[in-house]
Amino acid sequence: MPKAWIQERKKDYYYRKAKEENYRSRAAYKLFQAVGKYRFMKEGDVVVDLGAAPGGWTQASRRIVGPRGFVLSVDLKPMEPFEERNVKTIIGDITEEETVNQILEILPRKADVVVSDASPNISGIWELDHARQIDLAQKALEIALKVLRPRGNFFVKVFQGDLLEDFVGKVKQHFKDVRVIKPKASRAKSAELFVLGLCLKTSEYSKN
Ligand SMILES: C[S@@+](CC[C@H](N)C(=O)[O-])C[C@H]1O[C@@H](n2cnc3c(N)ncnc32)[C@H](O)[C@@H]1O
Repeated sequence: MPKAWIQERKKDYYYRKAKEENYRSRAAYKLFQAVGKYRFMKEGDVVVDLGAAPGGWTQASRRIVGPRGFVLSVDLKPMEPFEERNVKTIIGDITEEETVNQILEILPRKADVVVSDASPNISGIWELDHARQIDLAQKALEIALKVLRPRGNFFVKVFQGDLLEDFVGKVKQHFKDVRVIKPKASRAKSAELFVLGLCLKTSEYSKN
């Protein structure tokens, strides 16, 4: 990692806060802020966290759902184990059908919320990174449609670019209320945004 990048990171407010509060990533605060504002996850919920490593969103989700909820984390990479018995992990690729089957097997019931911070390795080529990010967001949407209960919620990372509008249109087909948001903890210079789909339409649910 370049030295300048490491130094900039150490000065970052959310990076230091995550270290102090024992969160595995500064990204945890993006989820806390989005949930704080839009209330799409609550105590007792069943949550699926896609692209979860190193586990900041999983920790944040577990904090919100508490001991009566359930969090299932999925990533290509193995994660440090979580202490809580109601947090489970799958090492798997969200683009593969097998992973969806595993999710459905492990969930205690249909999920209340699906979140995805899944992100490809960044090439630095804008169009390519944008297209890959939207592709992962699309896969996350497909999983959400299979595992969410009616009126469940979906929160997914995207990158700004030409394909975003079309993706947001797809989310609107399935969810009643759709917003594109950027939590304060998301760096202003980053191209990332988050699409929030609230309330999975019941008609859509019956098709799955
Ligand atoms: C930005 S990180 C997630 C950070 C996480 N939300 C946190 O708070 O710690 C993006 C993750 O997406 C994962 N990822 C990328 N493509 C994936 C795929 N096809 N299936 C599963 N995970 C994937 C990467 O391995 C990486 O760990």
